[in-house]
Amino acid sequence: MTIHIDTSLPIGVFDSGVGGLTVLKAIRETLPNENLVYLGDTARLPYGTKSPASIERYAIQATTKLREYNIKMLVVACNTASAVAIVALQQHMAPIPVIGVVDPGAEAAVAAGAGDSYLVLATEATVRLGAYSRAIKMRDLGAEVREQSCEMLVSLAEEGWTSGHIADSIVRQYLAEAEDNTFKADSIILGCTHFPLLRDTISSIAGDVVVVDSATTTAAVVRETLMSHGGLIVSKQPGMLKLLATDGIQRFARVGGQFLGQPLTVENIQLVDL
Ligand code: DGL
Repeated sequence: MTIHIDTSLPIGVFDSGVGGLTVLKAIRETLPNENLVYLGDTARLPYGTKSPASIERYAIQATTKLREYNIKMLVVACNTASAVAIVALQQHMAPIPVIGVVDPGAEAAVAAGAGDSYLVLATEATVRLGAYSRAIKMRDLGAEVREQSCEMLVSLAEEGWTSGHIADSIVRQYLAEAEDNTFKADSIILGCTHFPLLRDTISSIAGDVVVVDSATTTAAVVRETLMSHGGLIVSKQPGMLKLLATDGIQRFARVGGQFLGQPLTVENIQLVDL
């Protein structure tokens, strides 16, 4: 269906917390003139330990809030919400185009061409649904995929403890659980938008393994989707950024600044209720 898009309208980006800012950062780098509105549902983080029914309900409520900002497109910058609720969100937001991060993540992993053994680090809910295994096997028929839930890495990222001996030993433990005599990963997929902050720690412990995330490929899919709908912004001005959170704006500012790669203060973040 062809829809008319007011190109100056913002792109909505949603995550359970600050993790989706890693995707937002990549979108800004790829499309610096686009206006963006980001919602972190920090009041209900983590999503990864919740039931599919709760995750879908939360995601619908969060994206309904984003729709109030007249978004022209929605990016579900949360693997958990993408794995559980992408179809429900596409139906709920129609005709606004909605993309998730699981398919771009799988695309990036296969394109990296490191080999057929893939280790996906993700939340419990994402692992339970096996969304990454399906998405990778669709693209690499000979793929062997192992998925490891790493709930504590979400807490480490939210706390800003992304390196040092605590982060090291937790990452080491998860990798030891995932690999054994029968499985050694050629690539590691950061299947949670919080995990790129731990990339250096994960890489240094994993050794000679390619580590990929979905941020850059998702930004490319955003550009393609907008282009195909005639929705890319025409203005050459730097895009505006609006940040919304459902709780804890001090913490959001402190940790979110690290994710975004620029300092944030509470004045930059608006508290919203769903
Ligand atoms: N950032 C979310 C994801 O990509 C996970 C964090 C959470 O458990 O809420 O899956």
